[in-house]
Amino acid sequence: MSNPAAVAGRTCLPDSSKEHIRTSLLAASQVESPATAGSNAVRIDMAQEPRQANKPPSRLLEARNVYKSYRKGKIEVPVLRGASLDVCPGEFLAIMGQSGSGKTTLLHLLGSLDVPDEGEIHFGGTRIDRLKSRARDRLRNEQIGMIFQFYHLLPELSTLENVLTPVMIRLGVWRYGWEGKRHRERAKELLSLVGLAHRWHHRPRELSGGEMQRAAIARALMGDPRLLLADEPTGNLDQQTGREILALLRRLNQEQGLTVVMVTHDPAIARHADRTVRLVGGVVQAS
Ligand SMILES: Nc1ncnc2c1ncn2[C@@H]1O[C@H](COP(=O)(O)OP(=O)(O)O)[C@@H](O)[C@H]1O
Ligand SMILES: [Mg+2]
Repeated sequence: MSNPAAVAGRTCLPDSSKEHIRTSLLAASQVESPATAGSNAVRIDMAQEPRQANKPPSRLLEARNVYKSYRKGKIEVPVLRGASLDVCPGEFLAIMGQSGSGKTTLLHLLGSLDVPDEGEIHFGGTRIDRLKSRARDRLRNEQIGMIFQFYHLLPELSTLENVLTPVMIRLGVWRYGWEGKRHRERAKELLSLVGLAHRWHHRPRELSGGEMQRAAIARALMGDPRLLLADEPTGNLDQQTGREILALLRRLNQEQGLTVVMVTHDPAIARHADRTVRLVGGVVQAS
């Protein structure tokens, strides 16, 4: 079997300056969560290691020869058939493909929402597809932000509370009760960052599509993730609003060094990425 990584993969460029920005931002802002202090749960700290001159940065995310099928009754439907992909720290990557080609399936595997039938997923140099489900939940909560076409906000919560949900899940009710004020301040900062400061007390049904996606982005940023996975983030928005959301993602990528992997079927959207790959026949091809 040919190795699709040889086609779609690439070596990460030396000196990813955006990841350096992120490294210093993290150093300035990161306070170790008591929930994780001393725990031997997943800690993937590659971004905080100083990079030696001339040493190419490790890949932040890697899929190696991944297979995934779904079962429909007695029929097995293969979706991914040896998909391989590298994501470099600090890059903005678009994954294109027709509807039904397996983009969402691949994104869910990259974000450890699901596990492959075969193959490996590595994040920050650690293999994550074999982690127990609690460890995967924790990884997602602490290191990976996700946004979706239909936002997935909780309708009964305010915008601010929606942004806070990752922290509430991480800390639990009691600890959140003690520490909530600090996190609420942070959530308000993030709502300002995404241009939604004036809407924090509104419920999702009182927001426009673009505003809901901004709220979802703020929620994804709440855990200071190293990676943002976006599944058709502009797919439900008009062209102008879609452009504004893309500009916001671009800004987060360029100014904060956030690595972004965005799935889209739209070439006009993919054009905004640093690099585009295509999912065709269950494998990833360079575009
Ligand atoms: N949970 C599931 N159970 C059964 N089939 C699924 C499931 N999720 C996706 N599929 C099928 O897998 C294929 C790829 O789906 P998906 O990854 O959502 O594609 P895309 O995001 O590119 O449109 C489609 O044929 C879809 O019907
Ligand atoms: Mg999809």
